[in-house]
Amino acid sequence: MDLLQAPHSGPRKKRPRKAGALMVSGAHEVRFGDLVLFILEKKMGSTRRAFLMDLARSKGFRVEDELSDAVTHLVAENNSGNDVLEWLQVQNIQASSRLELLDVSWLIECMGAGKPVEMTRKHQLVVRRGSPASPNPDAQKTPSRSVQRISEYACQRRTTLNNCNYAFTVTRLCFSTWSRGRNAFEILAENCEFKENEDSYVTYIRAASVLKSLPFTIISMKDTEGIPCLGDRVKCIIEEIIEDGESSEVNAVLNDERYKSFKLFTSVFGVGLKTSEKWFRMGFRSLNKIKSDKSLKFTRMQKAGFLYYEDLVSCVTRAEAEAVSTLVKEAVWAFLPGAFISMTGGFRRGKEIGHDVDFLITSPEITEDEEQQVLHKVINLWENKGLLLYSDLVESTFEKLKLPSRKVDALDHFQKCFLILKLHHQREDNEKSSQQEEKTWKAIRVDLVMCPYERRAFALLGWTGSRQFERDLRRYATHERKMMLDNHALYDKTKRIFLKAESEEEIFAHLGLDYIEPWERNA
Ligand code: CTP
Ligand code: MN
Ligand code: MN
Repeated sequence: MDLLQAPHSGPRKKRPRKAGALMVSGAHEVRFGDLVLFILEKKMGSTRRAFLMDLARSKGFRVEDELSDAVTHLVAENNSGNDVLEWLQVQNIQASSRLELLDVSWLIECMGAGKPVEMTRKHQLVVRRGSPASPNPDAQKTPSRSVQRISEYACQRRTTLNNCNYAFTVTRLCFSTWSRGRNAFEILAENCEFKENEDSYVTYIRAASVLKSLPFTIISMKDTEGIPCLGDRVKCIIEEIIEDGESSEVNAVLNDERYKSFKLFTSVFGVGLKTSEKWFRMGFRSLNKIKSDKSLKFTRMQKAGFLYYEDLVSCVTRAEAEAVSTLVKEAVWAFLPGAFISMTGGFRRGKEIGHDVDFLITSPEITEDEEQQVLHKVINLWENKGLLLYSDLVESTFEKLKLPSRKVDALDHFQKCFLILKLHHQREDNEKSSQQEEKTWKAIRVDLVMCPYERRAFALLGWTGSRQFERDLRRYATHERKMMLDNHALYDKTKRIFLKAESEEEIFAHLGLDYIEPWERNA
């Protein structure tokens, strides 16, 4: 594979260690030959780093430009030991056990003294347990805890559907079916979303996500040490749940009038935050009142949402998703026999239930015109068969040279349709159930996306989710790689080129990330 590696992620060259007592570092004589420093730019900035490097060299310290095996002391500013370890991990560098991780305060003291000063605890960067650089004796007792340092990015964690932290999952305090099975922090995050409080939303959703990824159960506060994304506010709540089995804050949200109303209103297909806000302000608290109110105007989407409400709130099972998949394949292949059709979304991540079924469709060797026609033909076919309950087709606004979006939640530009299909029950005893009135079908939400063949890897990655996983992939690309990623493309800002990919594996490789399987993306 011809993989374009990021500048630092390739194999490192071993620098030959120069022999002799007198070594030259820059233009200065090296006076303290057994110390080899490297100063980390991250969070320090290049100007300050260059200044400190010059200063240290002028005082007779050997300072390396790059982190090589020769380096004995790594100096960082505003970084914890774990931050440094994570940086090393991102760069694909195995830290030697003798590498000292030091705060810049040590270097400053050395500069003042004109010679190396003693390293004390206040200088040494603490690596919390669970890190490869400092095997913790405690960690050995609980091997599941120790394996690797946990990244702050969901795209560097493997989050399967096996959750070890059900204690934080709201089942007992749950009053409604919609909140069941969600963890305390997802509820808090959702409440912030309803209040459009973006910062708190991010705090809680990241905490929720990291808890889901843990391969061990948190049973005491000590277990939260070294776990990223758990700030003081979050830790307080964890402590309360450990002690009392529930959180007063979460309970308050679950009983909150506004939260309950928004939860109810947004459970209708086509109703978002704006409409919920309006109905809430108008004093509505139940769907029945809203439905029967003659003064309210509903969109076509909301009308369908009310009409098929019961079916749509009862989740789609995997068996139903498979039946829909058969329908989709039959219909698409009727017009485009060579099409590739992948089920994406939650079902691709291994979920057993979902709120809809998502598909990505693509085909090599078709013209743009043919490509544009497929979804129209498929919808027509279902319409004629009486299977189409609702459809909204959005035409493509895709442009080949458009840079990936900067927004983490940006919508994509592919042609797609949001549908409600009539799925007939596949019961053989259909005729046996003689009651004529019994409904023999279920309304199912289906999303179809059509993408150009050469973008299929990006589209597949983008439409597989989870949403939180996607957000962190983009955040990671931007902040750690100076790249831009969205559902269409990956752009390297340093090299000013688009990075092509034929598979998801190649995209992860471009980003210098270990490959995460779809079923490990349930962040
Ligand atoms: N997605 C997207 N653009 C949209 C809608 C969705 O890129 N306009 C992506 C999101 O990254 C999301 C995935 O497609 O993770 C699937 O979306 P959705 O069906 O909403 O969520 P699922 O993860 O499939 O969960 P559910 O089981 O509830 O459907
Ligand atoms: Mn879905
Ligand atoms: Mn969807």
